[in-house]
Amino acid sequence: MPTVFFEAENKKVEVPAGTTLRQAARQAGVSVYGGVNKLANCRGFGLCGTDKVVVKPAESASGLSFFEKFQFGEKTKERLACQVKIQGDLTVNTAPALEYGQVMTENFKFMGLAAPFAILTLGAVIYMVFEMIGKPLF
Ligand code: FES
Repeated sequence: MPTVFFEAENKKVEVPAGTTLRQAARQAGVSVYGGVNKLANCRGFGLCGTDKVVVKPAESASGLSFFEKFQFGEKTKERLACQVKIQGDLTVNTAPALEYGQVMTENFKFMGLAAPFAILTLGAVIYMVFEMIGKPLF
């Protein structure tokens, strides 16, 4: 059975060939998602791009999936953990996923601050439009 080594977490797990890297990570107790992406991800369908990792050697992983080619192009070193099928011993770096998670967390914080302001502005614009057409709301 292939062994998967998660560098940053210093954890190893043995899994049957064909297991996805996402499943192996779960088995090892390693998260391939950072920040809010732990909750806001597509659960392994290859759609969200939140589980970016770098695997070595590339030959021990399955080829690029359609979703990986779509998101990263043909000549990428990054892979989506949910799309990688393990074919041999692998070393995994989860840093890209964790960094992306931090960026998304900052974006969510900004949206939390900006949303009330946007709603108030929209309300003011609607109020002014009805005032201008002579049909006040209140
Ligand atoms: S979990 Fe969404 S792309 Fe892998």
